[in-house]
Amino acid sequence: MTLQKADIVIRNAQLIDGTDSPMATGDLAIKGDRICAMGDLKNWHGNQEIDAGGKTLSPGFIDVHTHDDRALLADPLMACKVSQGVTTVITGNCGISLAPIKVEGYPPPPLDILSPNRSDFFDRFSDYLAALSTEPPAVNAACQVGHSSLRAEAMDSLDRQATAKEINAMRRRLEQAMEDGAIGMSTGLFYKPAREAATSEVIELAKSLPQYGGIHTTHMRDESDHITEALNESFEIGRAANVPVVISHHKCAGQNNHGRSIETLALIDKAMEQQSIGLDAYPYIAGSTVLDASRTMGATRILITWSTPHPECAGKDLFELAKSWKLSVEATADRLQPAGAVYFMMAEEDVQRILSYPHTMIGSDGLPHDTQPHPRLWGTFPRVLGHYARDLGLFSMEEAVRKMTSLPAKQFKLKDRGLLAVGHFADLVLFDRNTIVDTATFEQPMLQAKGIDQVFVNGHCVWRDGSSTGQRSGEVLRTH
Ligand code: ZN
Ligand code: CU
Repeated sequence: MTLQKADIVIRNAQLIDGTDSPMATGDLAIKGDRICAMGDLKNWHGNQEIDAGGKTLSPGFIDVHTHDDRALLADPLMACKVSQGVTTVITGNCGISLAPIKVEGYPPPPLDILSPNRSDFFDRFSDYLAALSTEPPAVNAACQVGHSSLRAEAMDSLDRQATAKEINAMRRRLEQAMEDGAIGMSTGLFYKPAREAATSEVIELAKSLPQYGGIHTTHMRDESDHITEALNESFEIGRAANVPVVISHHKCAGQNNHGRSIETLALIDKAMEQQSIGLDAYPYIAGSTVLDASRTMGATRILITWSTPHPECAGKDLFELAKSWKLSVEATADRLQPAGAVYFMMAEEDVQRILSYPHTMIGSDGLPHDTQPHPRLWGTFPRVLGHYARDLGLFSMEEAVRKMTSLPAKQFKLKDRGLLAVGHFADLVLFDRNTIVDTATFEQPMLQAKGIDQVFVNGHCVWRDGSSTGQRSGEVLRTH
């Protein structure tokens, strides 16, 4: 028996491979950035040998909905994500991206979620990707172009439909970005910069995507009373532009709409018969975005996450603050601007129904620059595995992993990722399925999850025993 050599051999693990197959005991070997062998590896020797001690080894998690565009550059170790087992993030969601855009003055909200400074934005998408390649983060990144970013550059006022000339200008910028390596285009039709955009404007732009194998993701125009119209609009865009659509952070917001996920998931099922549709969700009953008192989506409680003029208000309850300031809620919100908030607006019943839906992927929607962020930034993936899969038994551990790995890899066309398979990239997470759990709360949102032992990105260990190793082995992923 000849001894085969690998860089790393991980032995005695419970392998969850990312499909729905039941976990099985086995070893896994890594050479360079790839998995080179799996199974019983007695005749293999690793320069580094790791005994998993029966813990679980799975593909690294793919966070399909992030606003990490600037965090990847500003905080390349990305502890908020690798501490959860995340090895790839999709950026440029909800219509906002750092590139391609020339920003004059303060970026129109919600672009300021990414950065309040115009100098952090990139004129060319290729410059953004080059910055990520020169100063690589610890996670892989697949980056989209935001429709609101395109609008903010091409139009002198955003409170109207774009003219044919402006659509042409946006299309040129989008196509150049796709050429440079963007994976698709997101919209945030809910938000001010894109609220007045016609469906036809989005279709015109989305038509540029298929030639690059691109995807279209959307924070829909409405996630509350008019959610069925918004879903139908999203499907229409996908059909007219012949492009796969991902419904971002699917939810039924506001008490009027609690329980309606029965209806929305049935609509999605039906649309899937004719076209490619995906969706993602985060495992919480509260959302978070910029503070807008005129559009609270029926929230029963609102927490301030940041405020430029009143940083001391981060973490405070908006309604209580209004009382103590003896102002209306609207006037209080005005005084805090620019600002962000957490909105309690969903029903647990809908969150669970959407999470259990077989086509639902997991996306944190975490906001990495908030002073007192929503706990989803640090807790999403361990919460799905620990709280929802193990403790509530909403689905199996294998199914939870599938929603975080092979399902998104397929949807976003991330080649050779999302599975434990020989030849695939060694993006891996070693975790304890008996103890994994989120610890971040709305009161203390920046706490590391428990139960994540080691995380590998492209064959390199980026996280071990509760801290970053300093390795930054992430890569820019391109579909084109
Ligand atoms: Zn969004
Ligand atoms: Cu978002």
